Amino acid sequence: MSIPESTEPLDDEYRDTVEYCGRAFSKYSLEAGTYFAPVDEEEIERLELMHNVLSKVFDNRLIFPPMATPRSILDCGCGAANWAVEVAEQHPDCEVLGIDVSPHMLPDHPPRNLDFQIDDLNSRFTFPGNSFDLVHSQMVAGGIHASRWPSYVRDIYRVTKPGGWCQIVEMYLNAQSDNGRLTYDHALSKWSSRYLNTLSPRKNPRAALSMAGWMENAGFVDIESKLITLPMSAWSTESRDQRIGRANRENIKELLATAALYPLTEQTKMPMEEFEQLISRARDEAGDPSLKAYFPLYVFIGRKPGRR
Ligand SMILES: C[S@@+](CC[C@H](N)C(=O)[O-])C[C@H]1O[C@@H](n2cnc3c(N)ncnc32)[C@H](O)[C@@H]1O
Repeated sequence: MSIPESTEPLDDEYRDTVEYCGRAFSKYSLEAGTYFAPVDEEEIERLELMHNVLSKVFDNRLIFPPMATPRSILDCGCGAANWAVEVAEQHPDCEVLGIDVSPHMLPDHPPRNLDFQIDDLNSRFTFPGNSFDLVHSQMVAGGIHASRWPSYVRDIYRVTKPGGWCQIVEMYLNAQSDNGRLTYDHALSKWSSRYLNTLSPRKNPRAALSMAGWMENAGFVDIESKLITLPMSAWSTESRDQRIGRANRENIKELLATAALYPLTEQTKMPMEEFEQLISRARDEAGDPSLKAYFPLYVFIGRKPGRR
């Protein structure tokens, strides 16, 4: 199939990167105010680390709803496509489509049943209704405009087949601890408030807290949500959580810097030296077992009424 010429300039625009503080960012994402994390090799490696952590958290399950073998899956904001590749490999008869605003992290040799589309999820979906057995959306809160969320969830509903499911996973990047030792004076708390306040009000980094309501309003039924304590390091006395925390240590170390670099130093003009000190202290605290720090991780599933 030949690609219409008129789409080419847009494709080029999506391909450009800009370098900032030694990291590569999508030029389109920064200029359009879409997404502010890097899209380079280091981020690909971090996303793989995060995928491995989530595999431990979810006991190697990729799909949570109780559904028969899916035939078509949409992965929104697929990133380096770790989830999409595994799901495509596990379901060779299923067509998987990954969408991302950035083509930079996509694998060169995906399974033959996995395709990609470069697009901004802040625009309304153009897919025909009732297209996918499962729509997956994971960790895209940094890139969905705050005002877009309700219609984003409605779009997910529209393109889900009757009887099909959505699966949404978001981490709320607000450092927490349940033992009372993490105070407002800790760098982790300052990191969280600076990061969350910088992203707001254009983005909604607290989107997970409203998700179930948006899903219900969109029409989803059998909605289930789960809040998981995702330890930043191996502080737990329980062996499973200790393994998860150990695996998550490196992911969190990287995430603290990658998520906040552009928002804090470019958007709020925090001096680089202050940023580096904040990150260094926050990393130490994330690894301090006495603080028992974690990020809340939210998981949602919902079914579109009807039969597949
Ligand atoms: C933190 S990564 C998560 C990637 C993947 N879902 C995962 O869990 O490993 C966020 C991804 O969402 C993409 N993204 C963010 N906002 C987007 C938008 N508005 N449209 C399309 N992709 C978006 C980013 O380019 C990035 O690849």
